Amino acid sequence: MSREIKLHKDTMIVSETNTKGIILYANADFCEIAGYTKDELIGSGHNMVRHNDMPKAAFKDLWSHMQDNKVWNGIVKNKCKNGDYYWVNATVYNVTKSDGEKRHVSVRVKPTELEVKNAITLYKTLN
Ligand SMILES: Cc1cc2nc3c(=O)[nH]c(=O)nc-3n(C[C@H](O)[C@H](O)[C@H](O)COP(=O)(O)O)c2cc1C
Repeated sequence: MSREIKLHKDTMIVSETNTKGIILYANADFCEIAGYTKDELIGSGHNMVRHNDMPKAAFKDLWSHMQDNKVWNGIVKNKCKNGDYYWVNATVYNVTKSDGEKRHVSVRVKPTELEVKNAITLYKTLN
């Protein structure tokens, strides 16, 4: 049985990807919650934490926001290395490095119980 890992109110999971969704940076909270080492995360596609309950439309929307240079916010269910899962309130946005390289950053905090409840209902209808 998979268990829900609840974020602490101070947890902040941060990652940065290139424009193909390859992880280039992962902070300590990301490693701790998802159960991966930094070495395992960096260089992998961000879909390595994708949970099957997440509708494809959510990520389509995220990527279209990145394309349009808009900030995306959403409630995301992610899978840990051991099969457990965790919900986050994610904010994803574009950054441009000093050399002009474009990247995407995601900052995730603990969602409210209502946000998770509404996401479960919405994602069931989308799946
Ligand atoms: C900065 C950034 C952070 C992302 N974070 C997640 C995440 O936490 N979980 C997730 O499933 N997908 C995340 N994605 C989306 C994935 O890149 C991917 O589109 C998604 O997991 C769907 O995978 P698929 O294309 O293999 O179906 C993120 C993308 C970006 C650009």
